[in-house]
Amino acid sequence: MPKLTYHGHSCFELGCERNKVIIDPFLRDNPHTSLDPGEVSVTAILVSHGHGDHLGDTIEIAKHNNCLVVSNYEICGWLEAQGIQVHPMHIGGAFNFKWGRVKLVPAIHGSGLPDGSYGGLAAGFLIEMGGKNVYFAGDTALHSDMALYGRLNPIDLALLPIGDNFTMGIDDAVEAAVMCGASEVVPIHYDTFPVIQVDPGEFAHRAGKRGVKVRVMEFGETISV
Ligand code: NI
Ligand code: MN
Repeated sequence: MPKLTYHGHSCFELGCERNKVIIDPFLRDNPHTSLDPGEVSVTAILVSHGHGDHLGDTIEIAKHNNCLVVSNYEICGWLEAQGIQVHPMHIGGAFNFKWGRVKLVPAIHGSGLPDGSYGGLAAGFLIEMGGKNVYFAGDTALHSDMALYGRLNPIDLALLPIGDNFTMGIDDAVEAAVMCGASEVVPIHYDTFPVIQVDPGEFAHRAGKRGVKVRVMEFGETISV
């Protein structure tokens, strides 16, 4: 059974047996974690898009773990030029890694890199690990493809942004939660910055009224998927 640890914002570690991946490793500038990038031990890093609050400490973690970064083609090219090992993918494509299967799915958002380089298209991830399906939506607006993901492969856990301003807010995230049909939903991408301060309890309450089971994770909490 995979274990999932939430480090606040959109940063998660997801692991099963000997393998663990970190998603959007925004640590040093993340007010909700004291985890030092130098202490992160992972098999791979997944980066959903080029913005600094998602790319985060990818380069430092990749270098000291000597591990693979999985992202879109453009971000991988930018990282490879800095000596990082990469596995480029793109929207709609899936690949079976030794630790699990990853499919890049659309996220409606930008993806510029911190130095202004072109970062391709923002993505979400459908991750299959240890017999469980996790949908990490990334930074995104509500879009109706979310209904297809759950129809094609039942989703055990969906990680959905609720913070508004840059992504879906609570209204749209409730719709997303209903559409993707996940067994359980964890709200993400809120309270990190003043403009994305929202109440995850309100999301839980409103999604609950629509029949969705919501789990508001504490920062630093680990759960079984
Ligand atoms: Ni973003
Ligand atoms: Mn973001």
